[in-house]
Amino acid sequence: HPLDQLIRKLPKAELHLHIEGSLEPEMMFALAERNEIVLPYASVEAVRAAYNFTDLQSFLDLYYAGAGVLQTEQDFFDLTWAYLKRAQADHIVHTEIFFDPQTHTARGVEFLTVLEGIRRALALAEKQFGITSKLIMCFLRHLSEEDGFATLQDAMPYLDRIDGVGLDSGERGNPPEKFARLFARCAELGLPAVAHAGEEGPADYIWQALDLLHSRRIDHGVRCTEDPALVARLAREQIPLTVCPLSNLKLCVVNDLAEHNLRELLAAGLCAMVNSDDPAYFGGYLNDNFIACRDKLALTAQDIVQLARNSISASWLPAEQQAFWL
Ligand code: HPA
Ligand code: ZN
Repeated sequence: HPLDQLIRKLPKAELHLHIEGSLEPEMMFALAERNEIVLPYASVEAVRAAYNFTDLQSFLDLYYAGAGVLQTEQDFFDLTWAYLKRAQADHIVHTEIFFDPQTHTARGVEFLTVLEGIRRALALAEKQFGITSKLIMCFLRHLSEEDGFATLQDAMPYLDRIDGVGLDSGERGNPPEKFARLFARCAELGLPAVAHAGEEGPADYIWQALDLLHSRRIDHGVRCTEDPALVARLAREQIPLTVCPLSNLKLCVVNDLAEHNLRELLAAGLCAMVNSDDPAYFGGYLNDNFIACRDKLALTAQDIVQLARNSISASWLPAEQQAFWL
């Protein structure tokens, strides 16, 4: 399609990417073998065949199990490096990636092992590909506030290597207010915040993420359109929404990509952009998400340029570096 060349060549930032969600089944098998772990699947094809999700939780169950093959610093390096090579192929010039330390420390993997494996790959990508990056530590919202504070304690010696904090995992029943005190402490420490909200959860969780967590962006946020006053606020304050179309499709947030509200968000003047979320699980990296939306939502060249520009302007790059890409 003529617009796909535009999609490929535009400089883009990715702002919603869980590094554990870039674990392809091939690497899952390779790391399982290297670490002498027996997987409950016979083949790469059997793993892919299991990726038939009905909701967020059905995905999270496999995602947390899959992450069990990640054990050494080299494993985290290899995982992150594989993503960064894909990012370069998609002409991503800047990426802000999430990691979930609790998924690993709960299994006895050291916090520093995770952090340094990821960071070593990010540093190499900046040197070899010129891809800049930020690293965002996510708290798992299905776990307790106390567990979150313990994770922040683990991170304390390394805050110079962490650019911000996020909130992810099962949204329903785990409202942002559960973590108001934890995020207040993070703010005191100078860590900017983002939060997943309004993916499966109601619009009220987006209000909470803004007012109680002081979230600078909303990850997903697609359910905001259920509340016109909220849409007005998101537009007025230009709060970015890191939308993940193929994720929403695979997790049945929408039944058909043609029903996705991405164009509606843009038309309302919101700073929305496209992201891949967990590309190894949801069937595509960044440009695949763009192309699927171009196809099913009939994105125009103007929409595509706007989405790419929004990704740069919503990033945490300093203004002069944003200006270079805009
Ligand atoms: N939502 C919540 N938690 C997650 C996601 C998501 O889309 N991906 C990885 N962890
Ligand atoms: Zn996510």
